[in-house]
Amino acid sequence: MYQVLYRKWRPQRFADVIGQPQVTTTLKNELKSGRISHAYLFTGTRGTGKTSCAKILAQAVNCLNPIDGDPCGECEVCKGIRSGNILDVVEIDAASNNGVENIRSLRDETVYTPAEAKYRVYIIDEVHMLSQGAFNALLKTLEEPPAHVIFILATTEIHKIPATILSRCQRFDFNRISVGEISERLDFVAQNEGISLDADAARLIAFMADGAMRDALSLFDRCIGYGNTVTVDIVREAAGLASSEYLYKMADSIVEKDASQALKVIDTLYNASKDMIRLCEEISSFFRNLMLIKTMNNPRDIVPMTDDEFEQAKQMLKKCSLSYIIFVIDTLQSALEKMAKAGNKRIELEMAVVRLCSLSNVDNDDVLARLTKLERAVKSGIAVGAPAERANTSRAAAQPIIQSALNAVNYDEIIKNAKPMEQWHDVLEVLKAYSITIATAFESTKAYISGDYLLIDAKNDIPFKILKQSAQKERMRDAVREVTGKTYKLGPYKKAEEKTPENDELLAFAQNAREAGVNIKINGEEE
Ligand SMILES: Nc1ncnc2c1ncn2[C@@H]1O[C@H](COP(=O)(O)OP(=O)(O)O)[C@@H](O)[C@H]1O
Ligand SMILES: [Mg+2]
Ligand SMILES: [Zn+2]
Repeated sequence: MYQVLYRKWRPQRFADVIGQPQVTTTLKNELKSGRISHAYLFTGTRGTGKTSCAKILAQAVNCLNPIDGDPCGECEVCKGIRSGNILDVVEIDAASNNGVENIRSLRDETVYTPAEAKYRVYIIDEVHMLSQGAFNALLKTLEEPPAHVIFILATTEIHKIPATILSRCQRFDFNRISVGEISERLDFVAQNEGISLDADAARLIAFMADGAMRDALSLFDRCIGYGNTVTVDIVREAAGLASSEYLYKMADSIVEKDASQALKVIDTLYNASKDMIRLCEEISSFFRNLMLIKTMNNPRDIVPMTDDEFEQAKQMLKKCSLSYIIFVIDTLQSALEKMAKAGNKRIELEMAVVRLCSLSNVDNDDVLARLTKLERAVKSGIAVGAPAERANTSRAAAQPIIQSALNAVNYDEIIKNAKPMEQWHDVLEVLKAYSITIATAFESTKAYISGDYLLIDAKNDIPFKILKQSAQKERMRDAVREVTGKTYKLGPYKKAEEKTPENDELLAFAQNAREAGVNIKINGEEE
C-alpha cells in the first residue's frame, strides 16, 4: 500500500528534524541530563515538526536505551509506541475532543501509573480548540501533575491559549523552515525514493511550501504522480500554476503596456481552467520578485526563480522602474481583494491588467523615494514640507494670504501672473502611487502657479469635488509639497474670457476656491 511521503518520512529522532535547532538541541540536552518537564507547549506554523517532535519526545523519555537524548528506535518500548501497541502514549486531537468531559476523563486516567512505559504521555494537538471549561479542567491537572505524567500541547495559534496554561508549560517555538533546508530534505527523500529531482524543481517546491515541510512533501508526492523525473514544469503543472512561459508573457505585456496581448494570455489560461485568483497571485509574486531583484544586494537566494527566469527578469527590469513595479503589485493586490469578495474574477483581473497597461511608466525612482518619505511622515503625523508650512496653518499666518488674495486686487491679476506648473506631472506621479482614483481624476488637468496659489485647470468639476474632501485635499497638498517643497493654496483656474462679468470676480474666485476646499475670506464677509 502506498504511504504518502510526508507520513513515510516523519522524522524518528531529533537529528532528523530539520530547521528547528532551538527546539531539538534544548530538548536533547534536557533529556540527557534527566531534566524532564511535565508540560511542554509546541507552537508554530503548520507542517514544521510539532507533532513529529512530540512523538520523538514521547519515545525519548520512555526509551530503554536512549542515544544522546534521542530514542533508539529499536527497543521494545520505542517499537511498541510507534506501532501503537503501548497505550501509555496517547494522542488527542483537541479539535474533535474539545469538551470539558473529554479532559475530565483524561484527568481521571492520569492517576494510574503507566502500564508498560515509564511515563504516560498525552499529546494534545490543536490545543487552542479546547473549550473554556476544558482549559480549566486541564489547568487543574497542570497545577499538580502526577510524577509519571507528561503533557505535550501543540498549537498553531498560541494567542488563543490562556495565560494560566502558558505559564505552566515549557514553551518551544517552531520556525518556518528555510528554502535551502527544505530543498535539501527533498533531495534526501528523492534519493531514497529513487526519484530524479532537478535542483530548480526542488527550489520551486520549497518556495511554494512557504516554510512547511509537510506541504513540500505533499507537493512532491503529487509531482511523482507524473513520473519518476521531476522538473520545474512538472512542479508548475502539479501545483496548478501557469507555465513559466505564460507567466513571463503576461508580465512582459504589462511592462510593455500591451493590453491586447495580456488579455489574450488571460483568455488562454481561462480556457485551460486556470484559477483566476491563482493567476493574479502569480503575476503579483512575479512582480514582487522583480521588486526584490531591484532592491536587494544578493537577491538570488531569496527570489524563487530558476536561473533562466532570473536572467529574463533582469532583462525585464531594464524596462521598468521600482515605483512602477510597486504600483503593479498594489493594483494586483487590490484586484485580489475584490476577487475574493465577489464579482466576476476574470473581469476583475482583466480590468486590473488593462489599467496597468494604460498607464505611462513611472520612470523616476525619485518618486518612490519621495513617496516613502511622505508615507512615513503621514503615518507619524509630521508635516513634511519646509518649516514655513506650519506657520501657514495658524490663523495669524493665514491673514497675509487672505490679504494677498484681496491685494492681488482681482482674479485677472492672479491669472495674469499664473505660469504653467512644470512639475505638475511629477505631482500626479506621486499621487498615482498614492491613490489611483485621485490620480485618474486629475489625469488630463493642467496646473498653474501664481504666487501662493496653485490653480488647477480641469475640463469638468470632478477634480474639485475630490478636493472638497479634506483627506483627498491633504493628499494633493502633500504631493505638491513633496515635489515643490512648498505649500500652495489650491484653487481653480479659469481663463479670463470665461469669467462671468455680472459677478464680482474676486467673490467668484473665493467661492470657487472654497468649493475646492481652500478657505479664503473676503473683507466684509461674515466671520
Ligand atoms: N522540521 C521537520 N523536519 C523534517 N520533516 C518535517 C519537519 N516538519 C515537518 N516535517 C514533515 O512534515 C510532516 C508533518 O509534520 P508535523 O510534525 O506533523 O508538523 P506539525 O505538527 O508542525 O504540523 C512530517 O511527517 C514530516 O514528513
Ligand atoms: Mg501537527
Ligand atoms: Zn528505544
